[in-house]
Amino acid sequence: TEETLVLVKPDGVARGLTGAILARIEAKGYALVDVRLVEPDRARLERHYAEHEGKPFYEPLVEFMMSGPSVAIRVAGNRVIEGFRSLAGTTDPTTAAPGTIRGDFGRDWGLKVQQNLVHGSDSTESAARELDIWF
Ligand code: GTP
Ligand code: MG
Repeated sequence: TEETLVLVKPDGVARGLTGAILARIEAKGYALVDVRLVEPDRARLERHYAEHEGKPFYEPLVEFMMSGPSVAIRVAGNRVIEGFRSLAGTTDPTTAAPGTIRGDFGRDWGLKVQQNLVHGSDSTESAARELDIWF
């Protein structure tokens, strides 16, 4: 088994979608190991998004992530890292497949950063690093 970090980002929390997103993770059969509401400061977000530093969307992304609380979730299950990314759908919510979290609940709001509701770790190394940042 393995673990991943899922975040319900500020747009998901503000829109009241936390329960719906948790329900999809549970319905898939993954285990919720830990759940916490977090209001991250800039230092935590700079660690989390270090790989994106210097990209045009980096600063708007960090600002967006400081705009309200996120829900951090430690999720466990076999192949849960790729499994959750499949549940989440592709990064751009406008074209994410229907049936995915981003495809069903997300859209382009014309803002500087893609508000795509959730984050999921993309590798075992990222998961270990990110779980340490948020828990
Ligand atoms: P996460 O699970 O959040 O990491 O999403 P991802 O792995 O699908 O995307 P990635 O790690 O490449 O980017 C992190 C976040 O930055 C995304 O979820 C978006 O919120 C934002 N982002 C990524 N690429 C773009 C982009 O090209 N334009 C804009 N405006 N935002 C982007
Ligand atoms: Mg990513």
